[in-house]
Amino acid sequence: MRFNIALLPGDGVGPEVMDEALRALGIIAKKFGHEFSFQEGDVGGIAIDNHGTALPAQTLAVCKKSDAVLLAAVGGPKWDDPKAKVRPEDGLLALRKGLGLFANLRPVKVFPLLVNCTTLKPEIVRGVDLVVVRELTGGLYFGKPKKQWQTSSGRHAVDSMVYSEKEIERIARVGFELARSRRKKLASVDKANVLESSRLWRQVVIEMAPQYPDIELQHVLVDNCAMKLVQSPRDFDVIVTENTFGDIITDEASMIAGSMGMLPSASLAGVPRTGEKTFGLYEPIHGSAPKYKGLNKVNPMATILSAAMMLRYSLALEKEAAALENAVQRALEDGYRTYDIMEPNRTQLGTKEMGEKIAERI
Ligand code: IPM
Ligand code: MG
Repeated sequence: MRFNIALLPGDGVGPEVMDEALRALGIIAKKFGHEFSFQEGDVGGIAIDNHGTALPAQTLAVCKKSDAVLLAAVGGPKWDDPKAKVRPEDGLLALRKGLGLFANLRPVKVFPLLVNCTTLKPEIVRGVDLVVVRELTGGLYFGKPKKQWQTSSGRHAVDSMVYSEKEIERIARVGFELARSRRKKLASVDKANVLESSRLWRQVVIEMAPQYPDIELQHVLVDNCAMKLVQSPRDFDVIVTENTFGDIITDEASMIAGSMGMLPSASLAGVPRTGEKTFGLYEPIHGSAPKYKGLNKVNPMATILSAAMMLRYSLALEKEAAALENAVQRALEDGYRTYDIMEPNRTQLGTKEMGEKIAERI
């Protein structure tokens, strides 16, 4: 089959890890008889340099015409001035909004071979396999009013956590459906003891629960969730939460896996269902690591695993997705590591060499 894929390599180490995902996808195409047609676009810092905006109209147009978008990373010190009018991150936010990517899936799966890479105790993280479903186009990030203003008593600022029942319903549905395809446990995370938006969130989730009698639903306050994530992370299966809470707890959850270099993500425009194609954008959760740019150092696994998620959710190629994931697993089993997951008696490789080892194992 033929698929159109938009490629947004972005900044820093983005192009280097993207190259390794492309190498892997090239093998998948050959082995399984598919044709991937790739179209590149600028986003982030490079787009600011080339076009004066973090998301040029032509990049958005390329994404809209594609079956899926693969993004590597954006940002860097060059564009970090807090007073700057445009920032690389604006490109990400505009992509999310412009493509309607309301559901962000961030799986945290601990590879048994890497249980010693985390700063937590191995016996706490062993066997962790959870997914955070983060609402991505609402809440504090986009709610209005959002501004700064000045009065005689000084400067003020406001961000608004706004949610409609429709927005809550569609993201909760992603959580319920995903739980149904997994261990059937859903934790809805909110701050209903304080926030009105969270009270509506909890109410809507409670009203949906009868449609999912097979799912064990819990409501967890976000502060308590932050604690439980490091205390007993194995207890979680699927977590569904609003945008800002999700931003914070996914950084925390990523540390359970030891390295951000291992973790992929998907941002979807619909409810994913097995065998169906849902439009989405896929990216590693790590940043652009500007200090490693051009050094052939960082771990390409998160980007390759993001490509696997793309195959699964946007192209409905489950077998191909599993083939990529197995290749990553086998490269680990064979002792290959990048610097971020290096341990004694293992072979440390650069980005490119790791990409080759994975490609050979597909
Ligand atoms: C993330 C990032 C982004 C966010 C930033 C870069 C805008 O932290 O994807 O988690 O806050 O959503
Ligand atoms: Mg974040």
